[in-house]
Amino acid sequence: MGYRETYQNWQNDPEAFWLKQAEAIDWTVPPTKALTDHGDNLYEWFEDGMVNGCYNALDRHVERGRGNQVAIIYDSPITGKKEKITYAKLTDRVANLAGALASQGIEKGDTVIIYMPMIPQAIEAMLACARLGAIHSVVFGGFAANELAVRIDDCKPKAIIAASCGLEPGRVVQYKPLLDGALQMSKHLPDFCMIYQREEHRCEMIEGRDIDWHEAQKGGMPAACIPVEGNFPAYILYTSGTTGAPKGVVRPTGGHLVALNWTMKNIYNVDPGDVFWAASDVGWVVGHSYICYAPLIHGNTTVLFEGKPIGTPDAGTFWRIIQEHNVRSFFTAPTAIRAVKREDPKGEFRAKYDLSCLRALYLAGERADPDTIEWAQDILDVPVYDHWWQTETGYTIAGNPAGLEALPVKIGSPTVPMPGYDVHILDEAGHPQKPGELGAIAIKLPLPPGTLPTLWNATDRFIKSYLTTFPGYYETGDAGMMDEDGYLYIMARTDDVINVAGHRLSTGAMEEVLAGHPDVAECAVIGVGDALKGQSPMGFVCLTKGVNRPHEEIMRECVQRIRDQIGPVAAYKMTLVVDRLPKTRSGKILRATMVKIADGEPFKMPATIDDPAILDEIKTALQTIGYAQD
Ligand code: COA
Ligand code: AMP
Repeated sequence: MGYRETYQNWQNDPEAFWLKQAEAIDWTVPPTKALTDHGDNLYEWFEDGMVNGCYNALDRHVERGRGNQVAIIYDSPITGKKEKITYAKLTDRVANLAGALASQGIEKGDTVIIYMPMIPQAIEAMLACARLGAIHSVVFGGFAANELAVRIDDCKPKAIIAASCGLEPGRVVQYKPLLDGALQMSKHLPDFCMIYQREEHRCEMIEGRDIDWHEAQKGGMPAACIPVEGNFPAYILYTSGTTGAPKGVVRPTGGHLVALNWTMKNIYNVDPGDVFWAASDVGWVVGHSYICYAPLIHGNTTVLFEGKPIGTPDAGTFWRIIQEHNVRSFFTAPTAIRAVKREDPKGEFRAKYDLSCLRALYLAGERADPDTIEWAQDILDVPVYDHWWQTETGYTIAGNPAGLEALPVKIGSPTVPMPGYDVHILDEAGHPQKPGELGAIAIKLPLPPGTLPTLWNATDRFIKSYLTTFPGYYETGDAGMMDEDGYLYIMARTDDVINVAGHRLSTGAMEEVLAGHPDVAECAVIGVGDALKGQSPMGFVCLTKGVNRPHEEIMRECVQRIRDQIGPVAAYKMTLVVDRLPKTRSGKILRATMVKIADGEPFKMPATIDDPAILDEIKTALQTIGYAQD
């Protein structure tokens, strides 16, 4: 069956379609019905099934003869370490860790924060939680202590599992002081912290609170898998919204197993036993879905890469790993490919490796620019598939279903909606747009299995953020269009979210931090075009009357505040001190117009602008740092 027929098949009877896909998952009690409508546009899937995520990712493969197959290939050019862990070994390691957590009181429904870098123990911790029915929330290592504290207060973990450090090129990121700092700021305190000591940097333990990863497992009993209801949360993953408070995206267990399993063959075109590699981080949704869960659920070998596309040690690292580990499908962010292209435009590193094992490159996380796609296609000589999705959905909304039927690639489009997603382009009033017309991208409810049913402890916010603007639809926050052939084009965000090196960040959150500077009266943060990272944040600050300290000093402090309060991952480097910000007559800052000016793009003078002269002032300020070129 090809794409159109499969999509039609889903549209004819979505519940039958997903119940059929659910047969590929091992349930302790199979679901008898697919969808539950709770009213108010709230839906859940597979509510009456019972299932365990860890069992489906590990034990069942061992029981069916995959015990000796490698489950995880850990390849860390940053430490020089490599390790291959079989399904049998990983199952033992996870069961023992789960046993240790259980003996410390962790049980079904407890929340556990995981604050770990790209090491196998991070995946083991996620799966150990899944084994017990505990709900994990992984926090990315590039965030500051304050961001960790916000997440601790929101999901109130009974335990935090952390590593002693992460490793960035030329820098050890000490996790323990960040963790201790976060726990000083948070109102909630966990019962205990379990610490994995890395030999690259060992940390001090706090007696009575911190327990050692290995010590805790000594002499313990392995834990069995605890089945949970199909709609029970598997994890919470915080993502940027329009304000400083991140949104806790809830991932339901049953739907996530069913949908992820479907994507591995139909989108990524791998069969059980094949090696699949997503070069992302376990702290992001790509890491949750495609480093940890999907490849393991599907019986693949997953690559866990601790390094960077360039500099660890060179721009050939990706190609070395693909050759060495026989990678079939490779998934990364366009930024990573741009970084490699910049270092190695002629593909000289690529020429050193035999990449005949590779069948396709998949790009997501941000807009894939045509130059990058074409360059990658040229040097790799395999199809390059852009695909579009979000933390909220957990997997592809629109992509090229290469395992089902490879559709012709139209560069600039992530291709077509996947079964499960009824995608519409709407104008501001919610009317459908014609093919080729720009509009807000919305998905007709219900969303498919595995997508967020709500936000953690914040159903009102969920409804307000996603379900209110277009009644009966999920608002994606992206704008774009669809062509006559049903191909989708993603053009821009409609909110304050920006995408820096494939990392989703909130300009609103950055503004909150800058506004907290004692000398800042008013501010705006925008995302300006960046040749490497797609977008870069840039802050505009108006100083409080009477402040006459050197601007350079204040600008440096702004950069430091964002690094300290949000984290290095914000990559916030540029601040401009200006006298006034352009606004509408009702006082709304004209951020979108500022972006156009900074990027040197034509723009329409907003009809409601209060004082057009301010735009000239902004342009002049931007030109002093090389932006706003005509
Ligand atoms: N822990 C701690 N710090 C981290 C971190 C982590 N896990 N990840 C990034 N950082 C830090 C970096 O060290 C850097 O700090 P610095 O300001 O002291 O140099 C800062 O955050 C910004 O990092 P990054 O945006 O990654 O920029 P970079 O210049 O270090 O690297 C690239 C540029 C293109 C190589 C890198 O951005 C990259 O690999 N991007 C691909 C990202 C990706 O795969 N995203 C997938 C999401 S689906
Ligand atoms: P995240 O939740 O971090 O995965 O970020 C999701 C957002 O990244 C989307 O809403 C888009 O704005 C953007 N995005 C992800 N994939 C693509 C893509 N293939 N093309 C364009 N934008 C994308």
